[in-house]
Amino acid sequence: MDIVSFDPKVHRPRWDDFIVASYRNPNYVMLSPTFLRWQFFDNPANQTGGYTLWVVEQKEEIVAQLGFVPFLGITPSGEHIHGAYPINLMVRPEYRSVGLGAILLRRLLKQFPCLVNPGVNEAGAALGEGLGMTNLGFLRRYVAIVDKQTAQVLAVNGRLPRGVEEAAPAAANVIVSTKVPDKAGAGFAFPQPAYGAERSRDFLRWRYESHPAFTYEFIFSTDYRSVLVFHEERETENGILVLRVVDALCRPEHQSALLSAVVLAGKERRAAIVDFFCSLDCLRPALDAAGFFDEAQHADGHIAALFQPLDFRKTAIRVLASCPGWNEGRLEDWYITKADSDQDRPNDRRAIKETVSATQGR
Ligand SMILES: CC(C)(COP(=O)(O)OP(=O)(O)OC[C@H]1O[C@@H](n2cnc3c(N)ncnc32)[C@H](O)[C@@H]1OP(=O)(O)O)[C@@H](O)C(=O)NCCC(=O)NCCS
Repeated sequence: MDIVSFDPKVHRPRWDDFIVASYRNPNYVMLSPTFLRWQFFDNPANQTGGYTLWVVEQKEEIVAQLGFVPFLGITPSGEHIHGAYPINLMVRPEYRSVGLGAILLRRLLKQFPCLVNPGVNEAGAALGEGLGMTNLGFLRRYVAIVDKQTAQVLAVNGRLPRGVEEAAPAAANVIVSTKVPDKAGAGFAFPQPAYGAERSRDFLRWRYESHPAFTYEFIFSTDYRSVLVFHEERETENGILVLRVVDALCRPEHQSALLSAVVLAGKERRAAIVDFFCSLDCLRPALDAAGFFDEAQHADGHIAALFQPLDFRKTAIRVLASCPGWNEGRLEDWYITKADSDQDRPNDRRAIKETVSATQGR
């Protein structure tokens, strides 16, 4: 068996058969050439010159794969380190339990000093922990109810957590844009010193401006030193709108204004809720002031976290990490949000805006 880097000219259409059979979905998002190129090739931290996707070949067949998304990591003291998010680990059912998954993940662990894996499932967590990765626990999910009536449609059994009211945010002085202007500088700091994937200008432009499916919006402080990033998600079956915050790179003095501004945007657009998955605790006072609550503190009502279509099953984002020599034990020491890894992406290739260059290979 050989482990080789994916090359669309060599591996398609065999690899397409592997994806359709493994994910049991003829429209799985990886089948979009544009998405594949954006996720595994165009990333500015990709130094491999090819696709950051390994495939395992057995004779003529693809039997397993492991994708990874490299990033430039940063520590609380400003030290840089190369990191990657492992994604789309998949072994064909008939080839499971013989060590292939472990071989692929071990190889990635050797290649990068830091691996961060948010959104890992039970099997992936068992595999990662078996190879020495640390389970950091679950991201917090902060939710603001913007419209109680429509939010109820997104709640299990129509029940919102008791005592939670509609948010009433104050108006704030901010700048809204779909681009990161040059005057925004080289990048943005985390809300507090933390370990994480650096939000440099290159990262933001690739991650948000050139995303092939979602239109991300930026809310800047008037001095462009802080930014909050969100996008709209419209539930297909009932048309209900949700605003999803994916980054809050806010200095303490801007946190309330930016969080209020996104809730206000939700009100103006008649959204049901605004939500934000994040590892940090330090934004809590500003989140409270803008009308958000921490879902973990309200076990008596649950609002769906997966939309398009509405899905009540997956409720939490578990994070595994491995950074020997770095702190790895406490979630609060990291800045991890839905912007990290592949957590904020559509599952269906029909959501992708195909471009001609990507469909012609690389
Ligand atoms: C998860 C997956 C990649 C594991 O691949 P694999 O080649 O079967 O894994 P390995 O044979 O290398 O197993 C290594 C160890 O991982 C753990 N493990 C693997 N699959 C597991 C599962 N389904 N449940 C619990 N533990 C599991 C076990 O500790 C196993 O050691 P063991 O065989 O001695 O018990 C494979 O089951 C798969 O493709 N699943 C569907 C896709 C998926 O869930 N990917 C993970 C996304 S985070």
